[in-house]
Amino acid sequence: MTTQQNPPATNQRARLPEGKMPELRVMPAPSDANVYGDVFGGWIMAQVDIAGSLPATRRANGRVATIAVNSFLFKHPVFVGDLLSFYADIVKVGNTSITVYVEVYAERNRLQADVVKVTEATLTYVATGPDRKPRQLPPIESLIQQ
Ligand SMILES: CC(C)(COP(=O)(O)OP(=O)(O)OC[C@H]1O[C@@H](n2cnc3c(N)ncnc32)[C@H](O)[C@@H]1OP(=O)(O)O)[C@@H](O)C(=O)NCCC(=O)NCCS
Repeated sequence: MTTQQNPPATNQRARLPEGKMPELRVMPAPSDANVYGDVFGGWIMAQVDIAGSLPATRRANGRVATIAVNSFLFKHPVFVGDLLSFYADIVKVGNTSITVYVEVYAERNRLQADVVKVTEATLTYVATGPDRKPRQLPPIESLIQQ
């Protein structure tokens, strides 16, 4: 019989960002991890891509495609049962592209007091049309009026 132990508390305590809503909150399952209970980096990357695409889609007022993962840092491991919060902020807007900074925080052991910033990444999305080609971003004023 195997016993599932709580991961150790980390000394690297953080707080969830105040006054901001996460784009995504998700808890990895055993199928998302290796036999030691460490969550696969690829699974985290997929969730980061989804979280980053949400503000990009709002800014593009339509579909976007990921063109680049500019940076990715897995600073601390993620364990099965961590509650992950993904915060995403647009840091740069071009003619067709939107660059988004994503931070991921883990609440460990089902305790909000045990918070660790586990991952940060910067990704670039391109607004695309129905033909899947780059599309000029709409002016920001047109979004505010909606
Ligand atoms: C996204 C896609 C439609 C863009 O078409 P493209 O002809 O390659 O794009 P362009 O060269 O015209 O560049 C479009 C924008 O991306 C930016 N860009 C291009 N290469 C980039 C890179 N390596 N890093 C960051 N931005 C980049 C350009 O600067 C431009 O931005 P701007 O218009 O704001 O100045 C096309 O590359 C594509 O379909 N890629 C596959 C998308 C995909 O399947 N993603 C999921 C993969 S897992």
